[in-house]
Amino acid sequence: MHYAHNLTVNVLYQMKLSTEQTLALAIALSHFTSKVSAWSPTNGYAPGTVSCPSTDVNFLRDATGLSSEESDWLALRNQQTQPALKKFIERANFADFNIEEFFDEIQTNITIALSFSGGGYRAMLNGAGQLSALDERTVNATEYGLGGLFQSSTYLAGLSGGNWLTGSMALNNWSTIDELANNNNGVWDLNHSILDSGGLNIFSTLGRFIEIDHAVDAKKAAGFNTSITDIWGRALSYQFFGSDFDGYAPLTFSSIKDGEAFQNALVPFPISVADGRAPGTLVISGNSTIFEFNPFEMGTWDKSVHAFTDLEYLGTHVTNGKPDNSDICVRGFDNAGFVMGTSSSLFNQFLLQLNSTALESALKSVWRYFLSDLDKHEDDIAVYAPNPFFKAEYAASTDVADSEYLYLVDGGEDLQNIPIAPFIQPERDVDVIFAFDNSADTDDHLPDGASVVASYERQFGIINSEASFPYVPDTNTFLAHGLTTKPTFFGCYASNLTELSRVPPLVVYVPNVPYTTWSNTSTFKMSYDADEKRKIIQNGFEVSSRYNMTMDSEWRKCVSCAIMQRSLEALNEPQPAECKSCFDEYCWDGSVYSGDENFTTSVNYTQTGNSQAGVPDRSSITL
Ligand SMILES: *[C@@H]1O[C@H](CO)[C@@H](O)[C@H](O)[C@H]1NC(C)=O
Ligand SMILES: *[C@@H]1O[C@H](CO)[C@@H](O)[C@H](O)[C@H]1NC(C)=O
Ligand SMILES: *[C@@H]1O[C@H](CO)[C@@H](O)[C@H](O)[C@H]1NC(C)=O
Ligand SMILES: *[C@@H]1O[C@H](CO)[C@@H](O)[C@H](O)[C@H]1NC(C)=O
Ligand SMILES: *[C@@H]1O[C@H](CO)[C@@H](O)[C@H](O)[C@H]1NC(C)=O
Ligand SMILES: *[C@@H]1O[C@H](CO)[C@@H](O)[C@H](O)[C@H]1NC(C)=O
Ligand SMILES: *[C@@H]1O[C@H](CO)[C@@H](O)[C@H](O)[C@H]1NC(C)=O
Ligand SMILES: *[C@@H]1O[C@H](CO)[C@@H](O)[C@H](O)[C@H]1NC(C)=O
Ligand SMILES: *[C@@H]1O[C@H](CO)[C@@H](O)[C@H](O)[C@H]1NC(C)=O
Ligand SMILES: *[C@@H]1O[C@H](CO)[C@@H](O)[C@H](O)[C@H]1NC(C)=O
Ligand SMILES: *[C@@H]1O[C@H](CO)[C@@H](O)[C@H](O)[C@H]1NC(C)=O
Ligand SMILES: *[C@@H]1O[C@H](CO)[C@@H](O)[C@H](O)[C@H]1NC(C)=O
Repeated sequence: MHYAHNLTVNVLYQMKLSTEQTLALAIALSHFTSKVSAWSPTNGYAPGTVSCPSTDVNFLRDATGLSSEESDWLALRNQQTQPALKKFIERANFADFNIEEFFDEIQTNITIALSFSGGGYRAMLNGAGQLSALDERTVNATEYGLGGLFQSSTYLAGLSGGNWLTGSMALNNWSTIDELANNNNGVWDLNHSILDSGGLNIFSTLGRFIEIDHAVDAKKAAGFNTSITDIWGRALSYQFFGSDFDGYAPLTFSSIKDGEAFQNALVPFPISVADGRAPGTLVISGNSTIFEFNPFEMGTWDKSVHAFTDLEYLGTHVTNGKPDNSDICVRGFDNAGFVMGTSSSLFNQFLLQLNSTALESALKSVWRYFLSDLDKHEDDIAVYAPNPFFKAEYAASTDVADSEYLYLVDGGEDLQNIPIAPFIQPERDVDVIFAFDNSADTDDHLPDGASVVASYERQFGIINSEASFPYVPDTNTFLAHGLTTKPTFFGCYASNLTELSRVPPLVVYVPNVPYTTWSNTSTFKMSYDADEKRKIIQNGFEVSSRYNMTMDSEWRKCVSCAIMQRSLEALNEPQPAECKSCFDEYCWDGSVYSGDENFTTSVNYTQTGNSQAGVPDRSSITL
C-alpha cells in the first residue's frame, strides 16, 4: 500500500555537502534559529529519515484543548502581553477609567489575535504596512499609529499572501517590516518576478531554475510525492529567506519554535492556514476542512478530522498516529517554503501564466518544459503524503482518514480569505480579532466583506465543531453602508450574541483603503519596484492608523475599548463613557442595505476623492 523510501538516494544526497558546507549552513541557519536540529536532516530540500522519538510514540492527538506546548508557551506569553497591553491602553489617555483596577479585577488574560488576509503580493505588502503600524519597533508607530498592539498580541495568523508576510517575519528572526522591506540578501526583493529572478541576467535565472529542479527531484528521489506546489514554494523561498543555500532549502516551518524570541515568548504565536480538498472536487465553503500549521503542530479543529499531529515529524508513515515502522521516522517534510506555498497554492497559477508575462522566449520555453509533466487540472494542489491523519480515530468522516494522501490547497479557496478559524475556537479563548482584509473581491481589487460573510456562515455547517463568529451583513451592505471605507467592529455587545453557540470574539475588521497610493493592485502582479513597494507599505500604515490618527485622534482609545469589551462584560461593568462614543462610531449597527443595486466596485474612489465623507483628498494619487 505504501511506496518504499529510497534510502540510498537519500543518504547520497546527504553526503553531497562537504563538512565545511555543512558548517557554513549551520552557522547561517542559526541566524534563523538557535538550535541546529531545526532543518531537514538531509541539509537540503528533501526530507530525511531519523530514528523515532520513542518506540511507542504516537504523533496524533484529539483536538480537544490546546497542546501542552502551546499552553506552556502561553503562560510565558501572557507575562509579556499583559504589561504591554496595560501600557498600550495607558497611552490612550482615558479621562475617567482606572486601568490598574481593571487589570486587577479581570479574571483572565486578555487574548488578542491578528489575522492577515491573502491576495498575493498586494496582501503581503499592504499587510506589512498594516502590521508595521502595530509594532512599537516601527519609527513613529507609537506616536501616529497603534504601536504596542503587536507586542500585546498573543496570536498572529496569515493566509496565502498574508502568510508570506507572517512567515517571512517569523523565519527571519522576527525582523521588523522595515528590515524585511529593505532588501537583506534578496529578502522581499520583488524587482523581478519569480519567473525571471535574474532580470536581464538570463544565466542567473537559469541557475535558479536548475537549483529548484534539483531540490524537487531530490524530494522525489527520496520517495515523496511532489507537485507544482513544491516548485512554487521553492521559488518563493528565495524571496522570503534570501538566496544563500539554494534559498534556504533545508529550513522547516517547525524551526520557528526553536528561535530565541519565540522560545522566550517575546513574539506572537504564528499560524498558517490551508484548506483540505480532494482532487477533482471543488472546495465548498461550508464543508471543507480548514487546517492550521503552528510552530508545534499541524491539524484541524473541524469534526471531519478533529486531530493534530506533530509538525516536525510530518512525512512519517503512520496509521492512527503510530509510525508503521517504529524505527523510521521522517523530518524535514514541513519545509518552510512548502508550507508557505501550500497556503498560497492558488498562485501556482503564476507559474502557469507564462504567455501573459513579458519573459524572454528562451526562458519561457525552459519554464514550459519544466512544468510540462505536471497535471494542469490539479495545479493548485499540494500533496501531503503519507497522510499524517491516515486512519485517525478522532475523524468523524472518512474523507481524509481513509486516504493515503492529504491534499491541501490555498487557504482562501473556501472564500474565507482572512484566517479566522484558529481564533474562533473556544479552546483559544480569544477576546478580539483584528482582521486585516486585503482581498480583491470587487472589480477594482478591493474588499467587500465576502471573507467575513463566509466565516459567519461556516459556523452553521456540519463540519464546524464549536467555533462561533459574530453577525455580519451581506456584501452589498458592506459596500453601500461604507463598511469597507474604514474599520468596522462586529459583535460589539455580547448581549446581542446569545443565540450563537457561544459568545464569539469581537472582530475589528480593517479593510484596505487606498489613501496615498493605489494599494488595490492586481492579485497577479508579480513584481514591484522599490518605490511601489514602499508606497503600498506606507498606505498600509495609514490604513491601520486611521491615516496617521488624522481621521480620528481617538483611534487608539477606540481600539482599546474593543480589546477590553469582553472583559468588561464578564465583570458586568459599564463601558467607560468614551468607549460608548467609539462604539457608536465603529460598531456595525445591525442595519442592512435593502436596495436593488448589486455593487461591483467598493467605493466611488476617483482621482480626487470619493463619495465617502472624511476621506482625505487623494488628488495626489496617480495611477
Ligand atoms: C535575533 O534578533 C534579536 C533581536 O533583534 C537579536 O538580539 C539576536 O541577536 C538575533 N539573533 C540572531 C541569531 O541573529
Ligand atoms: C495570566 O496568565 C499567567 C500566566 O499563565 C497566570 O499566571 C495568571 O494567573 C493569569 N492571570 C489571570 C488573571 O488569569
Ligand atoms: C516620523 O514622523 C515625523 C513627524 O511627522 C516625520 O517628519 C518623519 O518623516 C517620520 N518618520 C518616518 C520614518 O516616517
Ligand atoms: C504616516 O506615517 C508614516 C510613518 O511615519 C509615514 O511614513 C507616512 O508618510 C505618514 N503619512 C502621511 C500621509 O503623513
Ligand atoms: C505518488 O507517488 C507514487 C510513486 O511515485 C505514484 O505512483 C502516485 O501516483 C503518486 N500520487 C500522487 C497523488 O501524486
Ligand atoms: C461538500 O458539499 C458538497 C456539495 O453539497 C458535496 O458534494 C461534497 O461531497 C461535500 N464534501 C464533504 C467533505 O462533505
Ligand atoms: C502559450 O504559448 C504557446 C506557444 O506560443 C502555445 O502553444 C500555448 O497554447 C499558449 N498557452 C496559452 C495558455 O495561451
Ligand atoms: C483601484 O481603484 C481605483 C478606484 O476604484 C480604480 O480606478 C482602479 O482601476 C483600481 N485598480 C486596480 C488595479 O484594480
Ligand atoms: C457610487 O456612485 C453611484 C453613481 O453615482 C451611486 O449610485 C452609488 O450609490 C454610489 N455608491 C456608493 C457606495 O456611494
Ligand atoms: C532592486 O531595485 C532597487 C532600486 O530600485 C535596488 O536598490 C536593488 O538593488 C534592486 N535589487 C536587486 C537584487 O537588483
Ligand atoms: C446590540 O445591543 C446594543 C445594546 O445592548 C443595542 O444598542 C444595539 O442596537 C444592538 N445591535 C444590534 C446589531 O443588534
Ligand atoms: C443582484 O444579485 C442577485 C444574486 O446574484 C440577483 O438575483 C439579482 O438579480 C441581482 N440584482 C440586480 C439588480 O442586478
